Amino acid sequence: MPQLIVVASGAAHEGEVPDKGNLVVRAGVKKFPWPHLKYKCGMGKCGTCAARVLSGAEHLPEPNWKERERLGPRLDAGWRLMCQLWVEQPLTISQDPEPAE
Ligand code: FES
Repeated sequence: MPQLIVVASGAAHEGEVPDKGNLVVRAGVKKFPWPHLKYKCGMGKCGTCAARVLSGAEHLPEPNWKERERLGPRLDAGWRLMCQLWVEQPLTISQDPEPAE
């Protein structure tokens, strides 16, 4: 089972998710990463589930058209839509704003 770390408001929340688990679906049924993950539509439309991938991005598939349309240049900064991903490898994500440079 992949290890998942969600950094929210500066605190790290750690747990496991089933192989090929979708984080928004899990949060919807109140399983980890609930309540640490923000989401709404679950369909790639609202952008609420956008999260910066802090580690593990190399294991994720290429962004789909919904991610490209919704995230635009944020894709290059490592943001992905969690409702569009099925986790198979360890992942660390954060929905906190990017630190100022
Ligand atoms: S929950 Fe709306 S885009 Fe992912």
